[in-house]
Amino acid sequence: MFLSNRVQRMQASPIRKLIPYADQAKKRGIKVYHLNIGQPDIETPPVFFEYIKKYSNKIISYTNSAGLYELREKFAEYYSKYGAELSAEEIMITVGGSEAVTFAIAVVADPGDEIIVVEPFYANYNGFASLLNVNLVPVVSKAEKGYALPENKEFELKITSRTKGILFSNPSNPTGAVYSKQDILRILELARKYDLYVIVDEVYREFVFDGLKPFSVMEFKDHWDRIIMVDSLSKRFSLCGGRIGTFVTKNKEILDMVMKMAQSRLSPPMISQIGSIGLLTLDERYFKEISEEYRKRRDVVFEEISKIEGVVCKKPKGAFYMSVKLPIDNSEKFVKWMLTDFNVNNSTTMVAPLTGFYATEGAGNDEIRIAYVLETDSLKRACNILRLGVQEYNKVREKESEVQETT
Ligand SMILES: Cc1ncc(COP(=O)(O)O)c(C=O)c1O
Repeated sequence: MFLSNRVQRMQASPIRKLIPYADQAKKRGIKVYHLNIGQPDIETPPVFFEYIKKYSNKIISYTNSAGLYELREKFAEYYSKYGAELSAEEIMITVGGSEAVTFAIAVVADPGDEIIVVEPFYANYNGFASLLNVNLVPVVSKAEKGYALPENKEFELKITSRTKGILFSNPSNPTGAVYSKQDILRILELARKYDLYVIVDEVYREFVFDGLKPFSVMEFKDHWDRIIMVDSLSKRFSLCGGRIGTFVTKNKEILDMVMKMAQSRLSPPMISQIGSIGLLTLDERYFKEISEEYRKRRDVVFEEISKIEGVVCKKPKGAFYMSVKLPIDNSEKFVKWMLTDFNVNNSTTMVAPLTGFYATEGAGNDEIRIAYVLETDSLKRACNILRLGVQEYNKVREKESEVQETT
């Protein structure tokens, strides 16, 4: 039967497609350390469940398509800490940050249009864009430079008459890079020069280390006409399954258009919205504690990974990811091999190949992403296994090529 080109062109999740190999390893009795996926192991704060328990209505109804007003008000209060004067009307509750990014791309770009992304980028941007037949045009950030935000001239080289916006996450998934206020301002000014939208995905906003203070694109008041801020509670409160995100802008025209899309999917999940009202009563102490935990984990991973001969990795300053360059020929092959052919005392480590986080063909073949979503002892063990795996993988490859040369 006929299937659309759209879905056939869509790439499978680069992380999830290797899961069957992990499942098979587990069936063989191998313990797999999962550093491949951004599912935090930290508990969802109890206040989420308390608010739901208190809820007495007997019907799980739709809510307003833009979300519960009380939750939107709570978000406005929370965003005011980041210098944003927002009304509840300027905040739309979405089904995770994923829906907010999809809405953002859909509202600014038509099929065939282009959005510039900072590469490597959150892999599912590919999926959202290809569903909308929008082309992602990459501007590359480099491991050697700590995946710093590329210079404006790199962006300018990619701007065409079809470019509609610039999209990136800050702090970055998959690199953990944190872009500074000056970086963001220069992108906003560039966007003004070329009349583009700037879509900033701030899902990891609070997870910044080494004395950095969380901030938001929302504080640049003079640029609000072209800013779309995307947010989510998935990572901040370990609420991945709650599916609560936000789409935020002060551009009234955009809000009206996005409301049409929101209405067509009726409502974000009602019960999660009730619990999320509770989550937004938590204060700085919560974020401090969690950030400190991730900072510790980052340090452990960085120390262990630095022991790998030939690794290229600068200490990232945010999120809970680290992208590293390894002396390997093919990251996807390597990740698979770690699951099918390698273990240390019946344990192995699964990471994400970075190939799927690039739009550029062939890029990421010698890079992986590590999500430090386990406690420190497990991380130490997992990184050690990874180090031994890299050594062994290269030995096996050398032997294979010797055999090929002699035959
Ligand atoms: C940068 C970034 N944006 C958006 C998302 C989407 O998350 P959700 O839809 O769970 O809010 C993720 C999830 O990993 C992410 O890392």
